[in-house]
Amino acid sequence: MCGIMGYIGDSEPTKIILEGLAKHEYRGYDSAGIAVIKDGAIQEIRTTGRVCQLAEKVKETGFTGEFGIGHTRWATHGGVTENNAHPHISSDDKVVLVHNGIIENAREIRAELEAKGIKFHTETDTESAVQYLGYVYDGDPKGAIVKLTKRIRGAFALVIMFYDKNEEFWVVRKGSPLVVGHAGHEGFCASDPTALLEYTRDVWFMDDDEMAQITREGCKFFDFNGVEHEKKTMHLDWDSAMTSRGEYAHFMLKEIHEQPDVMTHTLLGRVANNEVDLSRELDWTPEQVKGWKKIHFVACGTSHYATMIAARIMETLGNFEIRTEVASEYRYMNIPIGPDTLAIFVSQSGETADTLHAARLAMSKGAKCLVITNVRGSTIHREVGDALVTPAGPEIGVAATKTFTAQITILTLLGLYMAKLRGELLPEPEKNLVGALMDIPAKLSRILDQEKVIEQIARNFADARGFFFIGRGLAYPPALEGALKLKEISYLHAEAYPAGEMKHGPIALLDKELPVVALVPKGFLWEKTISNIEESMARKSPIIAIATEGDEEIKHYSENVIYTPATEPELFPFIAVIPLQLFAYYVARQRGCDIDMPRNLAKSVTVE
Ligand code: M6R
Repeated sequence: MCGIMGYIGDSEPTKIILEGLAKHEYRGYDSAGIAVIKDGAIQEIRTTGRVCQLAEKVKETGFTGEFGIGHTRWATHGGVTENNAHPHISSDDKVVLVHNGIIENAREIRAELEAKGIKFHTETDTESAVQYLGYVYDGDPKGAIVKLTKRIRGAFALVIMFYDKNEEFWVVRKGSPLVVGHAGHEGFCASDPTALLEYTRDVWFMDDDEMAQITREGCKFFDFNGVEHEKKTMHLDWDSAMTSRGEYAHFMLKEIHEQPDVMTHTLLGRVANNEVDLSRELDWTPEQVKGWKKIHFVACGTSHYATMIAARIMETLGNFEIRTEVASEYRYMNIPIGPDTLAIFVSQSGETADTLHAARLAMSKGAKCLVITNVRGSTIHREVGDALVTPAGPEIGVAATKTFTAQITILTLLGLYMAKLRGELLPEPEKNLVGALMDIPAKLSRILDQEKVIEQIARNFADARGFFFIGRGLAYPPALEGALKLKEISYLHAEAYPAGEMKHGPIALLDKELPVVALVPKGFLWEKTISNIEESMARKSPIIAIATEGDEEIKHYSENVIYTPATEPELFPFIAVIPLQLFAYYVARQRGCDIDMPRNLAKSVTVE
């Protein structure tokens, strides 16, 4: 939530900062601003709306400076107004900063400073930090920041400039992501490493309770007591071309189309001769794996649905005792967690605050923890250590797509590997399932070939009042994901239910304006799902069916059939999700929604 960027060097700072903010826009996009140091004074320009509107304003006014900081906002405290937009400047014009996070004791600090006669101008929590800094600043930036870190509570990534320091800016981190880079005579900081790829691929991920001074000459790192320390860079294995939209109308569409390749890359090096081998990444022994009596999957949103699929697949592979929990709830559950627990945290971004806090809790209780993330070096990766990194490349669309496919691929491999180490999976079923998994990328490409059919069906239903998604067994979690995709980007109400549960209440809502998307693959639950489709039809709900190629009978129930290739029953979620993503995409497109940056959402949710 919120993207921040800082730059010092010989290039035009507004250009670099605007380009960086554009790359951060998926983190928040309700207002944006830049501050620069120019002729020994702080100057700023802000606007409500998008980074492109800020860019227009910069161009019109000829706004420029020597170096600067920028921000794109996802409002937490205070409405979406230009006045609340960052950067914020202290009343004495000595300090300016941008902030990502929440300052929890902002009210208390504000009251204290107002009592001393300092005037506040915004409704934001951030202003308490900048006013406090202005109040304590006496020409020593490091000393003032040390005092600030002892005064504020909450989560914060801050980038700070001081009016009389014409050769440096400062960054501070506790709880919100921040990455620093340096190349030649240029220093950078950003919330997200993708914003730095154009300049350097060797970066420093800031840790909690850490601050840094960035100058043209280099970066110096300090703890919150101001004591300097050495810090190692991390090499990013992404490149800047991966962050371009190419020929596609939206990042989401591009990322949907990348899924066959993403899945192939995820399998690469992890399977050989139809067998799974994760020993290069996990040094687990059979004894250890047998010792983990409980498996907890913890995640949020789409990543949570990926874990639901993983759990159901794993239950078919071995004798696992599994819980899948939403991270924001896991933290407050009174359940036994200990050394006999393997807690698996799944987070595309690796920065989701709820998941991170849940991981800290599990670590503190002695559980063995593992992370599945798409961002090497992300906070959760660094803190937990043991990780399987999905090679999906940067995902820019706010709605997760390709990372979901990568997650369920790697989680399926993990399930197979664990069942094997526990001695519960025989070679033949392993070979069969791995073989079937390796066939999936080609099947995904075949589904993508049906894009036009899916687009037409989506157009036909774009004016619906809302949608139900139903499925049974392994068709239920993808129904949840399909409904989430649709509501996120089209703003239509969409609800997913296990098909058999509809009659226990939700069926009361059905009528001719409420279509039902039924996931009905051929298999032992086909007939039962068909009964639920009949029940929906009896209430006049139009049916959109996701069915298996060759299923002619389904046409008796629906005129809107999206056919998917047959696969092993366990792997149906892989096959089901692309039609659902495309359906959501084209409904949203028909409705004229802002697909890559849906309202009220942010890609990386770094507040609780
Ligand atoms: O980065 P994470 O996987 O931890 O993110 C979790 C959710 O915030 C995320 O999946 C969210 O639900 C997406 N917008 C789904 O499209």
